Amino acid sequence: MANYVGRIEFPVKIDLGRGLEGAITNITKVGFVDGEKGRLIYRGYSIEDLCKHSNYEEVAYLLIHGKLPTRKELESFDALLNAEAKLPDSVMQMIAAMPRDAHPMNMLQTVIAALGCHDPAGRKITEYVSNPADGLASEVAVGIRILSRLRTAASAIARVRQGLQPIQPDPKLSFTANYLYMMYGEKPDPVTEQVIDVTLILQADHGMNASTFTSMIVHSCLADMYSTIAAAIGSLRGPLHGGANEAALDDLEHIGGPAKAKDWVAAKMAKGEKIIGFGHRVYKAYDPRARVLKTYAEKLCHDRGMAQVFDTAVAVEEAVCAAMQTAGKPIFPNVDFYSGLVYQAIGFPPPLFPVIFAVSRTAGWVARVLEYLPENRIFRPRAVYEGPMEATYVPIDQRG
Ligand SMILES: CC(C)(COP(=O)(O)OP(=O)(O)OC[C@H]1O[C@@H](n2cnc3c(N)ncnc32)[C@H](O)[C@@H]1OP(=O)(O)O)[C@@H](O)C(=O)NCCC(=O)NCCS
Repeated sequence: MANYVGRIEFPVKIDLGRGLEGAITNITKVGFVDGEKGRLIYRGYSIEDLCKHSNYEEVAYLLIHGKLPTRKELESFDALLNAEAKLPDSVMQMIAAMPRDAHPMNMLQTVIAALGCHDPAGRKITEYVSNPADGLASEVAVGIRILSRLRTAASAIARVRQGLQPIQPDPKLSFTANYLYMMYGEKPDPVTEQVIDVTLILQADHGMNASTFTSMIVHSCLADMYSTIAAAIGSLRGPLHGGANEAALDDLEHIGGPAKAKDWVAAKMAKGEKIIGFGHRVYKAYDPRARVLKTYAEKLCHDRGMAQVFDTAVAVEEAVCAAMQTAGKPIFPNVDFYSGLVYQAIGFPPPLFPVIFAVSRTAGWVARVLEYLPENRIFRPRAVYEGPMEATYVPIDQRG
């Protein structure tokens, strides 16, 4: 099938292609990925401003409720996140019983589905559809509960993988500090907390990416929020989406230093292989998240004995960008190229990289499915059938 299948000029000029490239799902006010200019906006605010002035709780509030909170509203939101953070004992026991070498995203998906079994409110979505006048309050509450508990589950999974007992949250801590406290058993230092908070802000929403689209599809069937988020986690697990930063870091650590980067890139390209951490369906300019993370990665890597791997990353970036520019297909690093370096520098285990992505992206998933619900229409695209139309059934013992 040809890659290019048509052009529409309204509401934006786009090329339609395979993989639903260019297809429009809905009208949104949650966020905008400006691929031409390399900008990312949440509810009108640039991610650069949010990283500088805000924190993850405030950004989650902004995405879900559609406006920046007053101090009082933020305090109530924080209190709610803390009040909802504990997992039922049976779910903690279930996590503790999981195989230590299981993929953490499989574990996380299982835990979210299990939490759905413990939350009768999660099954009330169809009540909203029958009585829309009652508003979205119940669905919003379930979304915020999942946002908080998914973070607790992520920390518990990290501990169980190391053979440690899970820790319940400390209600006095911020969202990010609590996440790290439950993971490591001690309060994080301010630098680590700030760096992780920035990575959570940067990945909280990103247009109609695969996992967000997955969440939209599942919720559009009026499935409960737990099924919605569990499905989105499944999508995020893949190496073309949330699993890319671990693979990118692994490459950087095996190249053998900046001097070998150019040959490594040339060899990969000669074999027609993609360089993980580069390219993007929407960005045709530098990914703004990668720009922020590159600055953090440079400082952290130089301070924490990882200068060589950072310099290798810069050399790979130069080689890939130059080669692709020459080939007439300019591509740039995406968020995953530098996020792995940042996580590694602060001691975050690589198999957990997609898990922190899920902790962050839950705010975007919840915000977008809630926005769509009042206008809900089930997603149902079509495929072009190219198979036979008049096949004659042959009984099994006559098929040779
Ligand atoms: C992100 C990604 C899945 C987007 O896929 P996509 O929108 O379908 O883009 P395409 O694969 O069609 O890329 C367009 C062209 O650029 C090339 N290209 C894209 N990403 C590339 C990469 N990382 N390395 C080398 N070439 C790349 C493709 O080969 C293609 O060339 P072609 O037209 O000659 O086939 C893709 O760029 C990729 O696989 N990147 C590596 C994985 C990754 O970093 N994922 C994290 C995403 S945030």
